[in-house]
Amino acid sequence: MRRVNASPAIPADQLRLSVAPMMDWTDSHCRVFHRLLAPSARLYSEMVHANAVVLGDRARLLAMDPCEHPVALQLGGSEPALLAQAARIGADWGYDEINLNCGCPSDRVQAGRFGACLMREPALVADSVAAMIAAAPGVPVTVKCRLGVDDDHEWERFIDFIDTIAEAGCRMFVVHARNAWLKGLSPKENREVPPLRYDWAYRLKRERPQLQVVVNGGIADADEATAHLQHLEGAMLGRAAYHTPYLLHQLDARWSGAVLRSRAELLREYRPYVEAQLHKGVFLKHITRHLLGLFAGQHGGRAFRQILSEGAHRPGADWALLEQALSLTEREPLPT
Ligand SMILES: Cc1cc2nc3c(=O)[nH]c(=O)nc-3n(C[C@H](O)[C@H](O)[C@H](O)COP(=O)(O)O)c2cc1C
Repeated sequence: MRRVNASPAIPADQLRLSVAPMMDWTDSHCRVFHRLLAPSARLYSEMVHANAVVLGDRARLLAMDPCEHPVALQLGGSEPALLAQAARIGADWGYDEINLNCGCPSDRVQAGRFGACLMREPALVADSVAAMIAAAPGVPVTVKCRLGVDDDHEWERFIDFIDTIAEAGCRMFVVHARNAWLKGLSPKENREVPPLRYDWAYRLKRERPQLQVVVNGGIADADEATAHLQHLEGAMLGRAAYHTPYLLHQLDARWSGAVLRSRAELLREYRPYVEAQLHKGVFLKHITRHLLGLFAGQHGGRAFRQILSEGAHRPGADWALLEQALSLTEREPLPT
């Protein structure tokens, strides 16, 4: 048997709410913002290929702010030795979890033989996970996967994938509860077209209660997210968290019993971070792009978005722009 060591479990209170890894979206600026909104959420990096971690510009790829914890580094790749090296480096940089991507269906990723195609290679994933656990002892090594690829619809194939990897020591699985269709769908369509089947995530938890299971895919509001918690450890939100970030705050407050704070109050807490970044030479637009949905559906929400979209790229744009945008949300609506 391949078993090396079991990866440590993640404390249950850190699993209830998480924000999905999203390329080009969940960079460090975004994660710091999400942390302010949801103090107890688990945050994930964008996927970084193991090769880039080992050979690339680590200061750029792995940079994080201390406030981001608990934060996971998501790796892409399928070479156990390389993934092990990358996991070790991620652990040394202070990441609280190393997650292996077994769900991305993009052509580029398929050409590199990682991401969702790994659903068909459980033994290789198990070898990778075992190598990562050995290289980063003490740091949970986890897997984010789909239910299958293309027309895989047999429960036995899915549970065999999970069991093979669990035997290698992985204890926590994030299940994006739909198949990935590797031919004919874009990555975007692959997040929408294959039907969601949450019942498989629930069944996984029922049949393997020793595993920690977080469900992902299509969770749109606080009630839906809360309903999942009756069946498993946690709910991971991607697009809804990004486009309507106040939902993260609502969920975090609801589940921790904290008092809801206003959007404006939360945003103003971001000011020291934003100003420190501007001081380092970061452009405001790289930060504000993550904030556009904060007032979605609220009075002044459109104007808030517009002021930031139009003003943040201008030379010298600074915090004053955010105050200007905020003032439009704080003004009383005109009587109709
Ligand atoms: C812009 C974007 C980038 C994504 N990048 C990644 C990624 O790097 N790694 C990954 O595992 N999933 C990635 N995903 C998929 C999400 O993590 C998540 O599984 C998917 O969006 C379904 O969750 P949702 O319906 O809550 O958005 C990405 C999704 C989006 C929208």
